[in-house]
Amino acid sequence: MATSRWQNVDGAFAGAPDEAAFWTGRTFDDFLFRPQKSDSQTRRNISVSSLLTADVALDLPIVSSNMDSVTGAHMARAMAMHGGIGVVHRGMSIERQASEVGVVKRSQSAVIVRPLCLPAGTAIRQARRFARQNGITGILIETASGSNLLAGLLSNRDTPVHGADEDRPVDDFMTPLSRLVTGAPDISTDEAERLMFEHRIERLPLVDGANRIHGLITRRDINLKREQPGASKDSAGHLRCAAAVGARGDYLERAAALLEAGADLLFIDIAHGHSVIMEQAVAGLRGKFGSVPLVCGNVATGAGARFLRDIGADAVKVGVGPGRGCRTRLETAAGVPQLQAIREAYLAVGHSLPIMADGGVKTDKDIFLALICGASTVMLGSALSGTDEAPGRVIEDPATHLKKKIYRGMTSPEAVLETLYDSSSSEELDAALETPPEGQEIQVPYRGSVSSILERIRGHLQSSVSYGGEVTLAAVRKKVLPDPSAFLVPLSAAARSESYER
Ligand code: XMP
Repeated sequence: MATSRWQNVDGAFAGAPDEAAFWTGRTFDDFLFRPQKSDSQTRRNISVSSLLTADVALDLPIVSSNMDSVTGAHMARAMAMHGGIGVVHRGMSIERQASEVGVVKRSQSAVIVRPLCLPAGTAIRQARRFARQNGITGILIETASGSNLLAGLLSNRDTPVHGADEDRPVDDFMTPLSRLVTGAPDISTDEAERLMFEHRIERLPLVDGANRIHGLITRRDINLKREQPGASKDSAGHLRCAAAVGARGDYLERAAALLEAGADLLFIDIAHGHSVIMEQAVAGLRGKFGSVPLVCGNVATGAGARFLRDIGADAVKVGVGPGRGCRTRLETAAGVPQLQAIREAYLAVGHSLPIMADGGVKTDKDIFLALICGASTVMLGSALSGTDEAPGRVIEDPATHLKKKIYRGMTSPEAVLETLYDSSSSEELDAALETPPEGQEIQVPYRGSVSSILERIRGHLQSSVSYGGEVTLAAVRKKVLPDPSAFLVPLSAAARSESYER
């Protein structure tokens, strides 16, 4: 079989012309998986854990896109709770993005190590705004700004209804230290839970003999910790959270603020990741922040993946133009069918670092196909966008009364106008405005909580693994990855219609 020119240029599928013929032009709907003999009795215990980077595994290998209609703090928190991870988008000011990361990092762990505080004397109006901005329902009040000495606790229940009291100080409403139940800094989770039950309280501030604040434990966090054993957590027990930075302008300043807020890894996410701009951005981040974990993208070829590995990425994000909000392929002709791109990237770098497939997932089976052809995690945008946790309002169609939410590509005119003016340096803004849109806005059905979607994805992945004849995703990948063509059935038009048309 003749070797095509792109194989020579990129070295993709080098020396394997049959493999090139198998993958060229292919994407998710081109294949079914050939069922394998299964020995397992139940699917519920099947592990679908997979690597995000060489050092971090996800219990659920799903990542929510860094898009302004997909991932803010609420989505990132839900993703981590379910064992995945969210990437907080960068279409907002540096301060706001860092604060969203902070919300996730503080939101679940039995001990909140650095609880948010306000000084005594703060007006109720300000405290209310502070609680809303930070997504918290109880605020520790310190004696003076920065004193770290506990004066009291203002919970939601203590906060008066809107009205005449807005300018009164929190001191008039909080539970003062003299009436607060507190715990010692080294209290065990069990003991804290017992104390909170005994006193019928929701929050337990941890203080030492001098009333210095050492942390806060909430009942909700203890319950969540028990219910979600697979949650993605860092070594201190905080939920993991990722965040996106750009490749120019104030990206180093943004990265510094995000890391300070506790971001576990940074995504350098640009449309054309196989570029000098990316190389400079990685060098800049490495120079300033050393070995901070970096996921870089997007690329769609083996050569692009090798490039990202060689400049120092910890994971490679693959996908040019498959996304639902994307118009890149329509407007520029650039792109590689997504399953082919994943396979090319895997053959190029899959043995040295993890690959994240990004975009084009329409149904849950696409996730499994991505994972057994080379990806170790899968990023989702539109599939998660109609949910409560995605930013944006639910809109009701006045004619049909169907509920919907907006999903939009980050280079859609709407997203560029709304996000870039707030978030970008003039250099970045000029670059964005110079480029015609390569994204679009669509309406997606409202789907309720993302939890049910993530649990459905987990269940379907477990079933796919069972059809793969194994009890872990890792085992199916080990079996299939060396040669997926032995396990995949290419579909004729008739077979595709038999499979997918309902
Ligand atoms: P899905 O298919 O999951 O895709 O909705 C999500 C991915 O789409 C990418 N993305 C864009 N691609 N123009 C593009 O060509 C855009 O404006 C755009 N916005 C997002 C991104 O990689 C995301 O994760």
